[in-house]
Amino acid sequence: MTAYKAFQVQEAADGSFASAVVDLDSGELPAGEVLIQVAYSSLNFKDALSASGNKAVTRKYPHTPGIDAAGVVVESSSGSISAGDEVIVMGYDLGMNTAGGFGQLIRVPADWVLRRPTALKLKQCMMWGTAGFTAALSVDKLLLNGVAPDAGPVLVTGATGGVGIIALMLLKKLGFHVVVSSGKAEAHDRLRELGADEIIHRSELSEPTSRPLLKDRWAGAVDVVGGDTLFNVIKSLSYGGSVAACGLVQSPTFQASVFPFILRGVNLLGVDSVEQPLTVKQSLWDRMGDQWLLADLEQVVTEIGMNQLGECLQQLLKGQAQGRFVLDLQR
Ligand SMILES: NC(=O)c1ccc[n+]([C@@H]2O[C@H](COP(=O)([O-])OP(=O)(O)OC[C@H]3O[C@@H](n4cnc5c(N)ncnc54)[C@H](OP(=O)(O)O)[C@@H]3O)[C@@H](O)[C@H]2O)c1
Repeated sequence: MTAYKAFQVQEAADGSFASAVVDLDSGELPAGEVLIQVAYSSLNFKDALSASGNKAVTRKYPHTPGIDAAGVVVESSSGSISAGDEVIVMGYDLGMNTAGGFGQLIRVPADWVLRRPTALKLKQCMMWGTAGFTAALSVDKLLLNGVAPDAGPVLVTGATGGVGIIALMLLKKLGFHVVVSSGKAEAHDRLRELGADEIIHRSELSEPTSRPLLKDRWAGAVDVVGGDTLFNVIKSLSYGGSVAACGLVQSPTFQASVFPFILRGVNLLGVDSVEQPLTVKQSLWDRMGDQWLLADLEQVVTEIGMNQLGECLQQLLKGQAQGRFVLDLQR
């Protein structure tokens, strides 16, 4: 049994939720083949939902959120993973109903465990984290569906958020003309420095319209917003264009018609980072640590300690955060 610290969310008898950094014991962790000392985690929108008591994400409390973890294996009963290995765990049930990366120890099944890409240190892995992996998966889907830099501009919505900012940086690295939509006027200079070629206000896309099609503007898009924004993006794709839909910050539902699909042949591509087979995850992580390496990722990252988690999760929940938060579990 080993004592460790964790950011734990508790539900009170009146249904309210509160969080605190508490001392726990490794004996309370779930069963699993691999015990990992977590060095770094990162903050994602889903963590903010879990920490606020959203039961669609986490059914039972007390709970330690954190859908991302990077650290060193302490014990392993799996033949393919050894004590001392530096590894990443992301998605599956981590941080949802399995104690997650906001604790200094996690215990998980061996088939959740990824090798750290050689060129990325543990902290750099968490700069990408699930948000960056999702951005990479979205970009990969666009490329696989024929959205190339010479096809025309691409759009990224929610551009100052974790997924959006990395999608912008990656698309720019790959040579695209990138249009971003953002609700934060104060972030425009920053977005331009990161490579945004054009910036539009998110309100330009957020209202429903009865028009069956809108002016064709984008060969492709990465959308984290969902709702009416997603349908407006679909209606604004050029002929044969594609949107990778990965988020729901405006709404999980949207009203649509088939017109953009049957008149412009556009594609709506679903993106799920959570349940991808481990081999698919590993291969994309290896690309993120190689051909898709983002040398300047650090400039969009804020490093925090456990005592800052509550405040930063609130910022995420309110859509006020910019870039990525990396959690140092030793701070
Ligand atoms: N499919 C998957 O596997 C997967 C994986 C990771 C994340 N996600 C989802 O992707 C979404 C984004 O995640 P994230 O980590 O990037 O979150 P985030 O860091 O909170 O960023 C979301 C951004 O969306 C914009 N936004 C916030 N509220 C909005 C609203 N009401 N209408 C329009 N735009 C709004 C804001 O950017 P601006 O101010 O710049 O507009 C905000 O920074 C979430 O829904 C998350 O659940 C899905």
